[in-house]
Amino acid sequence: MKTLDLASLPQTHGRTSPWADRLGALMDRWMTSDALYRWSVSNPLTRWVTRRRARQVFDLMAGFVYSQVLLACVRLRILEAVAERPRSLDELAQWTHLPPAGLQRLLQSALALGLLNLRSQGRYGLGPLGAPVAGHAGIRAMIEHHAVLYQDMQDPVAMLQGPGQAGAMAQYWPYTLDEDAQAAQAAQAAQAQAQAQAEKYARYSNLMSASQPFVVDEILASYRFDDHQVVLDVGGGQGTFMSRLALHAKHLQVKLFDLPEVAALARANFARQGLESRSEAHPGSFLKDTLPQGADLVTLIRVAHDHPDADVRTVLAAIYEALPPGGTLLLSEPMAQEQGETPQGDAYFHFYLLAMGAGRLRTPRELMAMMAEAGFSHLEIVPNPMPLQTQILIGRKCQGLPLKPDSFVNNN
Ligand SMILES: C[S@@+](CC[C@H](N)C(=O)[O-])C[C@H]1O[C@@H](n2cnc3c(N)ncnc32)[C@H](O)[C@@H]1O
Repeated sequence: MKTLDLASLPQTHGRTSPWADRLGALMDRWMTSDALYRWSVSNPLTRWVTRRRARQVFDLMAGFVYSQVLLACVRLRILEAVAERPRSLDELAQWTHLPPAGLQRLLQSALALGLLNLRSQGRYGLGPLGAPVAGHAGIRAMIEHHAVLYQDMQDPVAMLQGPGQAGAMAQYWPYTLDEDAQAAQAAQAAQAQAQAQAEKYARYSNLMSASQPFVVDEILASYRFDDHQVVLDVGGGQGTFMSRLALHAKHLQVKLFDLPEVAALARANFARQGLESRSEAHPGSFLKDTLPQGADLVTLIRVAHDHPDADVRTVLAAIYEALPPGGTLLLSEPMAQEQGETPQGDAYFHFYLLAMGAGRLRTPRELMAMMAEAGFSHLEIVPNPMPLQTQILIGRKCQGLPLKPDSFVNNN
């Protein structure tokens, strides 16, 4: 496993003082007192606050069960079945080959979570939260993939104790293992089943392709590609984004750089889409090899967060090197909330990346500092419609050139 980096401390902007600390300590004592709880639930004016907080704590405790209900619905393809038409318990028992008494517990739980809802004659239909899951194979692939994370998280405290044996998630993402572990794995694979290693790369690349359309939608809705000629996607997977971009902006040449096993998948994908004349897939490692030249825009999508700081610095420097003066870097990935912002799934991503064994969630400010260190200027956050999916940062290799003012679509 690679070393895990520490996050930089949030800036508090003078919001803490000895007085604030004393007040905080007083509030802590007050909020944890039984007397306050009893008073608050008996008072009609404050009861709703206490109820809401109790519900939130209950949800924190029950969250793992909720995830398992969702996983079971996906594995049993219940949401797809009821999306076709509402179904009775008996029909669903036939569909899932489960005894009705057990299945009913799952269906009632899914009802409570809004995955299903109740239709006429006691049949189950698609609920408001079940609809996006039934409608998107990418969401279902992600939910199924999380079984790997749950396996590692059975003992979260043991997981925090530090890199020992690489867990199931670290094995799933072969490039997060350190070089010795990768070499050992490769040697094993060579002896036992040469196929197995390639299959690992194909498996995660398929998962990335299935989940990437949401991210691509965010980028296409937020950034104009009109002024660019050649785009290079670093760590571009099997080329889902580059193919979509090439079809979206017909004037563009697209290039992709990824590990050899994955670049081969991208080349085949470009060929399937009839994009051979407008695309290139380059094999290599951005930690060791020079990136292909000639692109005036480089994209780095969902790559930095699963790499340690030192590797992110290496790839950003390589991108800066590969760009011509005036070139642009577009970096997009889930980012940590800045101090005082509404949480966007941070708790989830911190543990997912811990289970991967490499990388960390960074705030936009931290990423921009790393981009600036690599030489990029005119750093900006590009507002996008659904920041939970991804956030977008832009930097330029400007060297005194003025910034083009109208590249962003206004999503504020
Ligand atoms: C989380 S995936 C994201 C893929 C794609 N950008 C997306 O958003 O779907 C990270 C990608 O970085 C690639 N990658 C990881 N380490 C790499 C390295 N050292 N050199 C080149 N590519 C690498 C992986 O093969 C994978 O395709």
